[in-house]
Amino acid sequence: MSERLEDIAAAIVADGKGLLAADESSGTIKKRFDVIGVESTADNRRDYREMMFRSKEAMTKYISGVILYDETIRQNAADGTPLVDIIKAAGAIPGIKVDAGAKPLAGFPGDTITEGLDGLRERLADYYKLGARFAKWRAVIDIDTVRGVPSANSIASNTHTLARYAALCQEAGIVPIVEPEVLMDGAHSIDVCYDVSKATLVKLYDELYAARVVLEGSILKPNMVISGKKSGRTDSPEEIAEKTIKLFREVVPAAVPGIAFLSGGQEDEEATANLNAINAIGPHPWKLTFSYGRALQAAPQKAWSGKASNVAAGQAAFTHRAHMNHLAALGKWQPALEKAA
Ligand code: 13P
Repeated sequence: MSERLEDIAAAIVADGKGLLAADESSGTIKKRFDVIGVESTADNRRDYREMMFRSKEAMTKYISGVILYDETIRQNAADGTPLVDIIKAAGAIPGIKVDAGAKPLAGFPGDTITEGLDGLRERLADYYKLGARFAKWRAVIDIDTVRGVPSANSIASNTHTLARYAALCQEAGIVPIVEPEVLMDGAHSIDVCYDVSKATLVKLYDELYAARVVLEGSILKPNMVISGKKSGRTDSPEEIAEKTIKLFREVVPAAVPGIAFLSGGQEDEEATANLNAINAIGPHPWKLTFSYGRALQAAPQKAWSGKASNVAAGQAAFTHRAHMNHLAALGKWQPALEKAA
């Protein structure tokens, strides 16, 4: 495959393909394993991820790339094959989470700043040698209107940091996935989500321009415009699609080749229905696809539940969700297809 940043970015968002976000940190994967009663050992984490990476139909037809965690990019399959080689053999691209997580932002209770820039140039060079051709950095923007969260300082600091990360990635020949996640955990309305997402994206593209990031060689990983979970409201896919696209048309340059959504706590089918509604009102200047963690993995985690005898069932569950999201990325999904499976 070509090594131009623009070509890697285009391959990540190739028609109907999207990313598998399997970059849960050790702490997060333990929480997921706790739910299915599986101990979080290095071997269990390997077995679980190997199960997905060896799902041939999903990995060759629906998944363009996989976001890995530091442990996984260095791990071998049970038979000794590097997991990275299994991903590449399926025609998918290995990627790597490079941020060190969100920490409290000093002086701004309720806001966080994502850390991890120190030593990043050297780590990127190492990840490139290990096979990574794209990276991910997640900035977290919570909403709590009562407390004045997010502050302007949080948006400024997080977007500036994302731009420094993106520039370092491109210097290393790695496509930056730029992820400013406006959380859907709060009690806010969909319109407040719209306003905060807009303020964040406006500042983000200011910062990316200032840092001389080549937008054609970058991917945006945003939240959808959606009501907070504690608001008690469930928005229709049509309203989410209309407001999300209105926002992006205002603030995301057409030079950006693709937008790959996070699922952020949406239910599996909800994340698929919303992505489908977004693509159904196209055409759009960018590809709009998925970079789902929970919405791709909840079903296979449950089906697998840590048992070798369940590997085929886990792969079937993963393949089904990847297929449904593939159709949604093309605007061709229908609820009846879920029941047919
Ligand atoms: P979710 O789809 O579970 O939100 O995870 C995607 C991701 O990579 C968040 O950083």
